[in-house]
Amino acid sequence: MGPPGVGKGTQAKILVEKLGIPQLSTGDILRGAIAQKTAMGLAAKEIMDRGDLVSDDIVVGIVSERLDAPDCKPGFILDGFPRTVPQADALGKMLEQKGLRLDAVVAITAEEGTLVARVAKRANETGGARADDNAEVARKRLEVYRELTEPLIAYYKGKGLLKTVDGMAPVDDVTAAILHALGA
Ligand code: AP5
Repeated sequence: MGPPGVGKGTQAKILVEKLGIPQLSTGDILRGAIAQKTAMGLAAKEIMDRGDLVSDDIVVGIVSERLDAPDCKPGFILDGFPRTVPQADALGKMLEQKGLRLDAVVAITAEEGTLVARVAKRANETGGARADDNAEVARKRLEVYRELTEPLIAYYKGKGLLKTVDGMAPVDDVTAAILHALGA
């Protein structure tokens, strides 16, 4: 977990290669649904474009279904989920029902100026492929993160699962720190 632009997606994709387990990114799944113009995608588009969170029920449903796929049997990396306390509670219940557990929650941190710069750089590099990557919406996403998602740091610290990693370091160093924190 971590704020927009901190490197969650970048690191999750590297860990997929290194650990041989899939990345479950709720953001990527929702963007896929938007691209395919499914009912869920149409409902999510406007919410994501303004930087708000899609409803807990929708994302909890996405994750629950995805966790049942055979490729998740050896393990999985959740990227961008949970993002609210109700999502974290739902995840806890869901994992218990499925006989699964979290090994760790990795919080990646970075200074606010760096986050804004990284999102702007990505928007430049991708030609604005993500509608939520403009400066105004990126600021809103950061506000939403601070209000609704940051409380999960204390939530998972209280459960003894939290590992904090410095996301200001170069990509390879962040990966090494995550693998070290996971004991992998
Ligand atoms: P989501 O897709 O999860 O986006 P986000 O959290 O805003 O995060 P980003 O993708 O912007 O950043 P990232 O941390 O993955 O950074 P990245 O690796 O790309 O969510 C989008 C929207 O979907 C939400 O706003 C919401 O509407 C909806 N949604 C998703 N999940 C939801 C949920 N659970 N509940 C409700 N709604 C949900 O890196 C960014 C850039 O920085 C890249 O260019 C990268 O190359 C660069 N970079 C990365 N690491 C480094 C480094 N160490 N040094 C230098 N550059 C770096």
